[in-house]
Amino acid sequence: MEFSTKGESPEKTRSQCVVVGVFDGTVLSDAAKVLDRVSKGHLSTVLKQGDLAPRVGSTLLLHSVPGVAAQRVLLVGLGKESDFGPREYREAVRASIRALSDGGTREATTYLAQLRVKDRDRAWALMQTATVAADASYRFDSMKSKKEARKGLAKLTIAPPAKSSEADAQAVSRGAALGAGMSLAKDLGNLPSNVCTPTYLAKQAQGLAREFKLKCEVLEQKDMEKLGMGALLAVTKASPEPAKLIVLQYNGGPKKQKPVALVGKGITFDTGGISLKPAAEMDEMKYDMSGAGSVLGTLSAIARMRLPINVVGIIPTCENMPGGKAVKPGDVVTSMSGQTIEILNTDAEGRLILCDALTYVERFEPDAVIDIATLTGACVIALGHVASGLFSNNDDLAQELLEAGQSGWDRAWRMPLWNDYDEQIKSPFADMANIGGRPAGSVTAACFLARYATKYKWAHLDVAGTAWRSGKDKGSTARPVPLLTAFLMRRAGKR
Ligand code: BES
Ligand code: MN
Ligand code: ZN
Repeated sequence: MEFSTKGESPEKTRSQCVVVGVFDGTVLSDAAKVLDRVSKGHLSTVLKQGDLAPRVGSTLLLHSVPGVAAQRVLLVGLGKESDFGPREYREAVRASIRALSDGGTREATTYLAQLRVKDRDRAWALMQTATVAADASYRFDSMKSKKEARKGLAKLTIAPPAKSSEADAQAVSRGAALGAGMSLAKDLGNLPSNVCTPTYLAKQAQGLAREFKLKCEVLEQKDMEKLGMGALLAVTKASPEPAKLIVLQYNGGPKKQKPVALVGKGITFDTGGISLKPAAEMDEMKYDMSGAGSVLGTLSAIARMRLPINVVGIIPTCENMPGGKAVKPGDVVTSMSGQTIEILNTDAEGRLILCDALTYVERFEPDAVIDIATLTGACVIALGHVASGLFSNNDDLAQELLEAGQSGWDRAWRMPLWNDYDEQIKSPFADMANIGGRPAGSVTAACFLARYATKYKWAHLDVAGTAWRSGKDKGSTARPVPLLTAFLMRRAGKR
């Protein structure tokens, strides 16, 4: 979708459709009032008949409204004015895009960004409008032999609250850049594992490097052997697909500024290995590279925005397969850090590839390291599909990430990382075991990672419950790309 900003009075715009909000089924927003006035009460007459449900996200399409230049007017329900916050705003934008995307409207002008949103400013509303619109119009049909001949909405003009400024245009273009980054993350997640292999992810990274002039290096299995990445290599042992370690650098900041490192779990399919998973819903384990997808999505978003910041993305990627060569329960391996691990369950493989990547990242002398992983089913039990789990060895970094999650409306919730939990990953045969039993499974996984993240400020995002949706709307959500992008925008802004 294409986006632009233009401050024009709603009755004058020659769009195919103008989008305006209505509170509580009948209470007109400012833009709706203007249309009502020029149409001599047309909107209020229709609304009095109760055709627009009072809830957030209801829609009603009107044609040929008298005195209005646009062919159509889309009314969008906003709920109660006193409750109108970020969540309601996003829902209203989403509903308006849905209502338009199935119809014949190719191009529209929305006045929703003129609404006052509780606790949020003008730039937020403008950026969110573009991001949510891009998110709502996303389709994945690259695996269908016949593509749906999609007309749908292709262009959205966003009217800012008052005369449009340079800052408004920047907010919208940032929202669009984030939307494009999310779309990349979603495509990578939704692609099946026979297409989206470690090699495919490496090619995608090289493609981004060409497009945005980033630095990209792909380490092969023999390189990882030289580095002593025994934990990562144990996971890939039974797979015919070669493992990769992708390093992608975006240098938008001053030369001597230390980078932020993003480390993404890239298991392109997780069968569980010898500790094989049950068959039900196993297909969803193609999403086990969502952390990797979020790193590529975020790098593409910030590169498009040209943020003045240095970021390095590190992606350990392989398949977790059973087979004659597979690592077996009880096997002991030596990680790159020198610490030994007793692999009691081959399905706890994410931490094994991440621990070596967390050691490798030391060489970039990062200012902060954030890893992103669909790490534990236990995190889904703890937080469901609403919040991502946040773990950190640094309170300031944790706070920064929580706030970024609030602002990007991609929220996380902090979990403990106390060493009391370390008891659970003790091993009689090695320095540690790779599982800690059923209690607090997401915490013991994070405690395992913490043993490798000792030389820098570090945070871990467990996105097992938030990276994709199951059921009839199955698909990648691109989370936590909005959180990470907001985090980097805030950091870039401070410097
Ligand atoms: N990729 C899974 C975690 C997962 C499971 C994410 C279900 C989303 C939905 C991870 O590799 C895994 O299998 N974790 C195990 C760890 C256990 C063996 C300690 C889990 O959560 O069951
Ligand atoms: Mn697993
Ligand atoms: Zn996994």
